[in-house]
Amino acid sequence: MPFSKPSALFLRRLAQRIQPAALARALVAGALSVLGMAPAWSAAPVFEDSIAQRTLACSACHGPQGRAAPDGYYPRLAGKPAAYLYNQLLNFREGRRHYGLMTQMVEPLTDAYLLEIAQYFSALKVPYPAPQTGTASAALLAQGRQLVMQGDSARQVPACVQCHGERMTGVLPQVPGLLGLPHDYLNAQLGAWKAGKRRAHAPDCMAQVVERLSLDDINAVASWLAAQAVPAGSQALAAPRAAPSTAAASTLPACGSATLPVATGPKAGAVR
Ligand code: HEC
Ligand code: HEC
Repeated sequence: MPFSKPSALFLRRLAQRIQPAALARALVAGALSVLGMAPAWSAAPVFEDSIAQRTLACSACHGPQGRAAPDGYYPRLAGKPAAYLYNQLLNFREGRRHYGLMTQMVEPLTDAYLLEIAQYFSALKVPYPAPQTGTASAALLAQGRQLVMQGDSARQVPACVQCHGERMTGVLPQVPGLLGLPHDYLNAQLGAWKAGKRRAHAPDCMAQVVERLSLDDINAVASWLAAQAVPAGSQALAAPRAAPSTAAASTLPACGSATLPVATGPKAGAVR
């Protein structure tokens, strides 16, 4: 099954890449930093209580500055829309997405703090990795491109670009871009939606889109998307460029999102 592979692959990569000691360190450092304390082995001579310092534990898996790795399973965080990242942190905390270590890290954190973390990573503009050169056949890539750009009206599959932006770089406030993500990550996320293991805030439009895709379609879109370069200076669009036509609008499901917390705490608003 195409989407049972990534979890096996993910476990192997986790074992290969992250030394148990480094992982334990990262997690302890994360726990300590959540409490506002510096770990004893901290390289910085003076502990600087900044959001950059407090999110260092995240880089053990998400790469420095949340850049991720081009071939890995860990998603990039840098430059994604803040409301998207915030929704995901809530999704892990509230059981709509499942990854034990992520849930443990965000469980004790308040909404306002999660928003601050989301805004921090969203504001980081760091270069994207080169696209992956996969082994997908030309036919599979063509099928993927067709679905992303045009959808399939016979099966009521909307084009992905209708929501994710014409250049697939995302649409503010909460729709993420689709480029610069590893093939295995894309495959696993779409597979998880299809299996009911990833959910978004209601109404969950992605669940409705993925329901209409076969596993072969999922592999096709993941293969094509992972092979595309991220446009230079890429950023999420402020709003969809053209209002969808009436025909398209009738098949385009509505998407939910959390209400952003009002910035009240002393740390809130300090990261932009
Ligand atoms: C032990 C490794 C690990 C650590 C440490 C970690 N993450 Fe994650 N994170 C993951 C994995 C794996 C996923 C994808 C899980 C899935 O399958 O949904 C993920 C997903 C995410 C997502 C969703 C991204 C997207 O594009 O949908 C966000 C946001 C996130 N992590 C933020 C953080 C933050 C903030 C920290 C630090 C407080 C952190 N992570 C620490 C492994 C980790
Ligand atoms: C109706 C609007 C809509 C359409 C059409 C749509 N998406 Fe999405 N997509 C979203 C929204 C909103 C999210 C964020 C969901 C969340 O908060 O978890 C999302 C999230 C995603 C993610 C998760 C990204 C990450 O970093 O984890 C992937 C992958 C994705 N979409 C792929 C697709 C593909 C492929 C298509 C076309 C077959 C598509 N989407 C069509 C609205 C849409």
